[in-house]
Amino acid sequence: MRIDIITVLPELLTSPFAHSMMKRAQEKGLLEIMVHDLRPYGLGRHQQVDDYQFGGGAGMVMMLEPIVTLIEKLKAERTYDEVIYLTPDGQRFDQKMANRLSLKGNLLMLCGHYKGVDQRIRDHFITLEVSIGDFVLSGGEIPAALMVDAIGRLLPGVLNDETSALFDSFQDDLLAPPVYTRPAEFRGWGVPEVLLSGNFAKIEDWRYQEALQRTRERRPDLLKEGEE
Ligand code: ADE
Repeated sequence: MRIDIITVLPELLTSPFAHSMMKRAQEKGLLEIMVHDLRPYGLGRHQQVDDYQFGGGAGMVMMLEPIVTLIEKLKAERTYDEVIYLTPDGQRFDQKMANRLSLKGNLLMLCGHYKGVDQRIRDHFITLEVSIGDFVLSGGEIPAALMVDAIGRLLPGVLNDETSALFDSFQDDLLAPPVYTRPAEFRGWGVPEVLLSGNFAKIEDWRYQEALQRTRERRPDLLKEGEE
């Protein structure tokens, strides 16, 4: 998979992809992330990328021309399955969207800033508008990094244990069950006996029951009929 990201703050998008799983995904050639600085496409001597909004009001708006130039340059090089705009008024990102996007080949992400982008960009280039939650951040970079991480770890071969993404919270609309590791006893705090039993059928059942209970307590909204 290849993900291109357009931003006015490319520095914000280096570290999130330089460690751990995202680093490994890139080293293995499973994921290619290209960050594109919008500034060189800005207008005039100051490489301007934003301007006052028509009709007045506080806050600058990202201008059309620099974004159009860069998007059209990128689109001439490859076809994108989705052109995504990160914005608080977009569709809410969740595990299902991450699963769906992880099956795509090329994604283009546009990070918003200031008051957002000129609406005509959204009307003519954007195929998917995404919000990572009901709060407003200073720009789309952290949302873009978050999406790349959630999508990238789902690509086959990225996780060491190929099956472990299947057991994440939300994959079956349940939160994940509790986990334990050594030592089996610490300050008198033990580990559930069943996990040490070696009986995998029983362990699976225990995990399912714990996941169900945790979901009932914390996120009853996720439960389907019959699970409540
Ligand atoms: N840009 C600013 N806030 C955002 C949010 N919550 N989701 C996506 N992009 C954003």
